[in-house]
Amino acid sequence: MKFYNKVALITGGTSGIGYSVAESLMKEGTKVAIVGRNSEKGEKALQKLKEIHSDVIYLSADISNSNDVRKMVRDTVTSFGHLDFAFNNASNAEGKPALTHEYSEDDFDKMMGVTIKGVWLCLKYEIQEMLKTGGGSIVNTSSLDALICSAGTTAYAAGKSGVIALTRAVAQEYGSYGIRVNTVTPGAIRTPMIERKFKDLTLEQAKLLEGKYSNSNAIGRLGKPEETAAAVTWLLSEEASYITGQNLIVDGGVSFIH
Ligand SMILES: NC(=O)c1ccc[n+]([C@@H]2O[C@H](COP(=O)([O-])OP(=O)(O)OC[C@H]3O[C@@H](n4cnc5c(N)ncnc54)[C@H](O)[C@@H]3O)[C@@H](O)[C@H]2O)c1
Repeated sequence: MKFYNKVALITGGTSGIGYSVAESLMKEGTKVAIVGRNSEKGEKALQKLKEIHSDVIYLSADISNSNDVRKMVRDTVTSFGHLDFAFNNASNAEGKPALTHEYSEDDFDKMMGVTIKGVWLCLKYEIQEMLKTGGGSIVNTSSLDALICSAGTTAYAAGKSGVIALTRAVAQEYGSYGIRVNTVTPGAIRTPMIERKFKDLTLEQAKLLEGKYSNSNAIGRLGKPEETAAAVTWLLSEEASYITGQNLIVDGGVSFIH
């Protein structure tokens, strides 16, 4: 029980990578608040996680809304007493891919609201709590799209690049207060986000896309959520006590091939 009595807050914790991190931390004794926007999905995730242990809650919040974020942090601390770990992972890659001249201002604002402002809001309120107890550890989720930018994903790519810079700046501000902040950058990981992409395609198109993802990396397959979760769990832990402001890329080698 490496994390006995530790408390973690995980945004986007009801599915995919976030859920997998919740499982990984809970298996080591962490008390966890998972955050999402869909109560039904949240309840389902909660019931499954309770099979590990009962110190887990679901909180509903839109991370682009400051009142929601303030409340989600407050509710976590009210339930479990303090905050040690945060995984700022929620975001949405969806929305119609479009070239810049066709992309709407409204979609751009929404994307920035979640990918950048959302992570900044989470950091702001989580750090306020961590300062009260003398430290903590935070991981933010970026994306390979921040490093290998594709046409039609400009807002997502810009937002996710911003996460890496934001992480470095915040890491500098709080390192001497015992707070470490790192980024994890996943490649193509088989989660509901990727499954939704496949669902919109014919079987043949989906096979082609899966082949493209698999062939673009050195390992030759998509990643599993638990493989990203293992990296996040390690970054959050004391084993990574001298690591801050870094970006850990979990992509099967795509980024060094390209
Ligand atoms: N799966 C991949 O291949 C991949 C690759 C690179 C980066 N990522 C990033 O990993 C993270 C996790 O995604 P995933 O693949 O596990 O997909 P997912 O769809 O399972 O998880 C994303 C979660 O974020 C939540 N979310 C989205 N917008 C939100 C908001 N405004 N407020 C609160 N919650 C919100 C969703 O409800 C969902 O639960 C995301 O930041 C995503 O951009 C994923």
